[in-house]
Amino acid sequence: MQYKRILLKLSGEALMGDRQYGIDPKRLEEYAKEIKEVVEKGIQVAIVIGGGNIFRGVAGASNGMDRVQGDHMGMLATCINGLALQSALEDQDVHTRLQTALEIKEVAEPYIKRKAIRHLEKGRVVIFGAGTGNPYFTTDTAAVLRAIEINADAILKGTRVDGVYNADPEKDKNAVKFDSISFKDVITKGLKVMDMTAFTLSEENKLPIIIFDMNKVGNLMKLVSGEKIGTVVDV
Ligand code: GTP
Repeated sequence: MQYKRILLKLSGEALMGDRQYGIDPKRLEEYAKEIKEVVEKGIQVAIVIGGGNIFRGVAGASNGMDRVQGDHMGMLATCINGLALQSALEDQDVHTRLQTALEIKEVAEPYIKRKAIRHLEKGRVVIFGAGTGNPYFTTDTAAVLRAIEINADAILKGTRVDGVYNADPEKDKNAVKFDSISFKDVITKGLKVMDMTAFTLSEENKLPIIIFDMNKVGNLMKLVSGEKIGTVVDV
């Protein structure tokens, strides 16, 4: 296995499947099965999930809502997704713990780094909810932050595109995919991997980012087994 401990970043939108809003139980089940396979190989898995399928703070702000208020709503949305993912994983007999950056003690454990690491060592999947617990930060930033804190080998960002391209592959047919690229080249070529706060935090801490298509069954397993899937961003 290529990695011992990974931080998997899942997008909230991906949970919608073919829906316009909310959570598609089929997609959730597919994800849970993919994650189970990897856990069974002995890989420690932590997860950060977005909330865009329910609410995005930035979208709220652009419609005149107070940004902080919107971001708080977005953080709660990630907790809803976290609970759904926890439930789907438990349906697959995967042991999990949900830890949230905002205290909702009746619903989930508060985020405690040392406890999270113990859970991982015991083979439990740890889902981190509520982002960083602060407005103005994305769940990508939360994912990088938690990955660094728990000393993950890499952050695996599951998206609907299969890597980083020199142009938008959904608009330009001639776009070429990078198998690997340095942090520096991402900046000089003006490519977008994550928002700058998340990206810089990753670069400063030499945390590799792997962008891959999470919606293709088997990809997660291939990736952790060392197959060249997606794009690796590294020093
Ligand atoms: P170890 O005993 O250290 O291996 O971990 P554990 O998570 O099994 O122990 P703990 O006694 O902390 O937790 C037992 C159960 O209670 C687990 O399902 C936890 O997720 C849950 N739990 C622990 N703390 C909290 C909390 O503050 N709020 C909520 N809602 N659940 C909690």
